Amino acid sequence: MQQSTDPMQQSTTREWDRVWVNARIATMVAGAAPYGNLTGAALAVRGDRIAWIGPAEQALSRARALDVPVEDCRGQWMLPGLIDCHTHLIYGGSRVEEFEKRLCGISYEEIARAGGGIQSTVNATRAASAAGLLASAMGRAQRLMAEGVTTIEVKSGYGLNLAVERILLEVARELGRRLPVSVRTTYLGLHDLPTEFAADRAGFVEQVAGPWLEALADAGLVDAVDAFCENIAFTLAETERFLAAAQTRGLPAHVHAGQLSDMGAAELAARYRALSADHLEFVGASGARALAASGTVAVLLPGAFFMLRQTTPPPVNVLRAAGVSLAVATDCNPGTSPCTSLLLALNMACTLFGLTPEEAIAGVTRNAARAVGLETLVGTLEVGKRADFAFYQIDRPAELCYNLGANPCVGVVFGGVARATA
Ligand code: NIG
Ligand code: FE
Repeated sequence: MQQSTDPMQQSTTREWDRVWVNARIATMVAGAAPYGNLTGAALAVRGDRIAWIGPAEQALSRARALDVPVEDCRGQWMLPGLIDCHTHLIYGGSRVEEFEKRLCGISYEEIARAGGGIQSTVNATRAASAAGLLASAMGRAQRLMAEGVTTIEVKSGYGLNLAVERILLEVARELGRRLPVSVRTTYLGLHDLPTEFAADRAGFVEQVAGPWLEALADAGLVDAVDAFCENIAFTLAETERFLAAAQTRGLPAHVHAGQLSDMGAAELAARYRALSADHLEFVGASGARALAASGTVAVLLPGAFFMLRQTTPPPVNVLRAAGVSLAVATDCNPGTSPCTSLLLALNMACTLFGLTPEEAIAGVTRNAARAVGLETLVGTLEVGKRADFAFYQIDRPAELCYNLGANPCVGVVFGGVARATA
């Protein structure tokens, strides 16, 4: 669908199933008013799509003529359904002991090198049942959804063998079937080296990029791939092997890049035209330029920065100056960001990283949609897009970034249907 700078457009051929009036609408369409705000506007849906956005008076007379239900939003704000574009939502166990250790002065890297960190979650995840993994992930997904999230990217990466990675991706698909939310799956094949491959790194990478990717992709479980490119995880060459294999299969990529050091992972992500490069506390001007040129979204993860008590924030000015699109996500995971509030991530993106509220909200709507490759479907309120939107009892959109721990979401429509959970 073409990006429009005028969202007050009208479909002449379609009728409506339902219309919402008296909302203050932040379409989040770029280049329009701040937040893409519309005043005195109404929105109509047909099926699972936005059928019409236009002046409220027209909506009311047409709704009467068509005899369709009219919802009175009583001045609430309506925004596109939020998109959490980076989560590790499915895992067993907890890492609270590691949290205690870190507070006693042991670093994330030291814990990881001593066999804790991701490895301990791999052990707990391998020991868990699929039903248990699904139940705990459903709880986390529902907490995100209660804030108005309608799309969640879900990574595997705590199985690290074919059988358990398959279970994680199947559980992710099941989440999307059980809950009124859209799930994008990511095969995070290169997250950590499992102990059984400790003496054979190359062999592990070959399995991940070869037969395991093939099996999981052939089963329809993989929307994208991801790799943790870092000195405590995988090298540039190992990451590239995986990205190249994915590219051959036509699968897009994300890359965990520049979380702890600048290894040139952003440049690599850009070379493979990755959907996103994520974390980016350590990225230089050349990495930023490369991301801008390839249209790769920078996904900022302030929850992990906060939990690890990092002191070097991502160079937002450098990314901005280069013209990189910024997104914001929870990075929900047991180790570095046990966070199930995208609104808290919004606040942290502003307070810790210096995003403006408008940038931060674009980072969980329009730009997050690009980061998961769904920009033609979701992320803004425009005719033809899926009717995913959330209602908030707030005075202005920036309030979504301002509150600490409050949830002003008062309703959610997913695919044109009002959710009971909100
Ligand atoms: O995004 N950086 C790698 N992956 C996760 C952390 C995973 C873990 O520690 O369990 C992240 O921060
Ligand atoms: Fe992550």
